[in-house]
Amino acid sequence: MLDLASVQNVFRSVYGTDPRLFSAPGRVNLIGEHTDYNDGFALPMAIDRRTVVAAAKRTDRKVRVTSNGIAKSEEFDLDRPGPKRRNSWLDYIEGTAQCLEMRNIKLVGADLFIESDVPSGAGLSSSAALEMSLALAMTSLASNEDFPRVELALAGQAAEHAYVGTMCGIMDQFVAALGQTDHALLIDCRTLETTPIPFAVPGAVILICDTGVKHELATSQYNRRRAECQRGVELLRRVLPDVRALRDVSVAQFEQYGETLADPVRKRCRHVVTENARTLDAVHALSEDDLSEFGRLMVLSHRSLQHDYEVTCPELDLCVEVATSQEGVYGARMTGGGFGGCTVNLVKREAVGPVSDALRREFERRFGKRPEIFASRASQGAIEH
Ligand code: GLA
Repeated sequence: MLDLASVQNVFRSVYGTDPRLFSAPGRVNLIGEHTDYNDGFALPMAIDRRTVVAAAKRTDRKVRVTSNGIAKSEEFDLDRPGPKRRNSWLDYIEGTAQCLEMRNIKLVGADLFIESDVPSGAGLSSSAALEMSLALAMTSLASNEDFPRVELALAGQAAEHAYVGTMCGIMDQFVAALGQTDHALLIDCRTLETTPIPFAVPGAVILICDTGVKHELATSQYNRRRAECQRGVELLRRVLPDVRALRDVSVAQFEQYGETLADPVRKRCRHVVTENARTLDAVHALSEDDLSEFGRLMVLSHRSLQHDYEVTCPELDLCVEVATSQEGVYGARMTGGGFGGCTVNLVKREAVGPVSDALRREFERRFGKRPEIFASRASQGAIEH
């Protein structure tokens, strides 16, 4: 956890005033991958790595922002929106502020200092952590009113689309805004309804294994997968006219009509249709405290992402192979968009040491470097400290 007192001190030394402190977490997705932009179900949890925003109100509409290590200091004016897609961290910050204003949330100027221990480029949604900590800070400085968290999340997603140029779904911003301690968050990505699912598992640990592979292919391949899913919907509508998104196709219907599609569209759709079913089954397994079943579904999810959706990579596949061959591992899978980043492992507490050792050893043997491994409990979404 970041040292809040030192964040406060740096803020004082930069701006000479006392700040309010806000933060939002990174996330791992437990199951429900590449379902959010298909109106489906996702089950992420917030992790205990956070981005902290220290913020003080100004009397004008200027925003000054500085950070420890993230990027150089910047300044912008809420009344004179700058260009989009500058390839700088301002895309996230100014983008989120402008998208909040577009949702009729009137902001005030602010001095900001930002620090984070969410690794960036690791598929743990450091960008959503930045957007949601900033959105909470800016809206809290502007008014005592509690703006609906869903509004903050949608503004963050809009910033990704318009300012950053990433056509992401809503999972990352939703869990960064709405996650709860010791709970995973079931998101219905059509209705935007969220349900906290108790996930404090006595005797078991969520272990995150960062392959260190930066997902460079991710953006182009992500957009291609989205288009393939869309194409699948168009084709399936010929036989199932009520289908609006892959969410509307049951596993039984897909078994009946899937053969009318050609690959790769057929495989992409099969992943999404079966992944939605797995996600709801996984929630049911948790309600029965059945971690073995939950873990089995995690592994099936990985296989589907590997062979049908084709978004894994050799490093992710090896980590899952190694983990699932160890004693005390309920399940393992890649998490996030894919093409690199992290795996998420559900592991018996007493097996954490041996499993981590095996992952480091086998990964080093094959790829000549060590993965970063850390445990996390399910933590709280965006908060003021
Ligand atoms: C990225 C996106 C999310 C989601 C995942 C895949 O993390 O930001 O919206 O689509 O990929 O599940």
